[in-house]
Amino acid sequence: MQPIYLDYAATTPVDSQVAQAMSECLERDGKFANPASRSHLYGWQAEEAVEAARGQVAALLGADAREVVWTSGATESNNLALKGLCQPGDHLLVSAIEHKAVLDPAEWLAGQGAEVSYVEPDTTGQVSAEAVEASIRRNTRLVSVMFANNELGTLNPIAEIAQVCRKHQCLLHVDAAQAVGKIPVDVKALGVDLLSVSAHKLYGPKGIGALYVRRSPEINVMAQIHGGGHERGMRSGTLPTHQCVGMGLACELAEQNMERDRANIGALRDTLWQGIKNLPGVRLNGHPSDRLYSHLNVAFDGVDGEMLLLSLRRLAVSSGSACTSATMSPSYVLKAIGLSDAEALSSLRISLGRYTDEQQVQQAIAHIIDVVGKLHTKAS
Ligand SMILES: Cc1ncc(COP(=O)(O)O)c(C=O)c1O
Repeated sequence: MQPIYLDYAATTPVDSQVAQAMSECLERDGKFANPASRSHLYGWQAEEAVEAARGQVAALLGADAREVVWTSGATESNNLALKGLCQPGDHLLVSAIEHKAVLDPAEWLAGQGAEVSYVEPDTTGQVSAEAVEASIRRNTRLVSVMFANNELGTLNPIAEIAQVCRKHQCLLHVDAAQAVGKIPVDVKALGVDLLSVSAHKLYGPKGIGALYVRRSPEINVMAQIHGGGHERGMRSGTLPTHQCVGMGLACELAEQNMERDRANIGALRDTLWQGIKNLPGVRLNGHPSDRLYSHLNVAFDGVDGEMLLLSLRRLAVSSGSACTSATMSPSYVLKAIGLSDAEALSSLRISLGRYTDEQQVQQAIAHIIDVVGKLHTKAS
């Protein structure tokens, strides 16, 4: 029997309409041509498809299509934003619980002579505008704060942080890989300058993402990949038509499904929490209300984390962040919000999505109750 997939925050399966649209851009009877080929109909058709998709991504973000730069995913978008804007001597301010796709380029920039400092979250994983403001310096070029934390789902007050950044004349980049597609993200209403998106978190394909770069007033982002000047000089390389089309449609479907997803997935997530919250040693990590409706990060105090994950064989869940789960060190996110090593190691991230149903949730509850009960009996 296949385990129940409850790791939608790590990635989502591709929607079948999206897969179908992508398959129409691959073979010789489809839009297979190079979208940069300006000399024939095949190229024009591919370009038209890519530009329509860019418009779909922009629509989900409340942006102009000319403000969307295609990338290979949120990791590349984050790298482009940080490395494309910060020079030696500039100050870069990031939250301490950003994804590694922000923390690692920040560390790299520090090695190149940039000043990098970190804003600590509170015990729910939230980064306040006050904390950001207190850390801004005269030479702060860029602030990077994520929309929703990938492990906890905790949401940050992005509009307030944007106001602070504007007041101090520094730019704000937001890694919105977890939030876009789940909740409304309107770059203009929020006042953000740059924002990273990933298709595979919203039922689109892996290997494609976008960076929103505000156009007016223009932001000069230095390219990190050179070779042909595609994407207004910010990111060279032949565009993968099928990937762009897939991401575009996934964004349109996300917009259409957003309210239904929020109601359905939120109700299932709450059912799951109600079913396990009274088990001994169970505690919720993250913000009780200001968090994504898909996420449930739970500490099972008094239970060995590795044993827990191994015993929960009928569930596909994540311990800490999927991207760091190759190592069994405690999650730096959970440590930063005040958990001990043991508490962090005994925590699980359970994340639900569009294909999660009531039966799966009931089976998950029964399995968790059974396993946690047995592990407590063993420990005592
Ligand atoms: C908050 C956040 N940023 C960045 C990434 C990396 O995105 P991608 O896989 O598109 O490079 C992830 C994926 O886990 C994420 O959750």
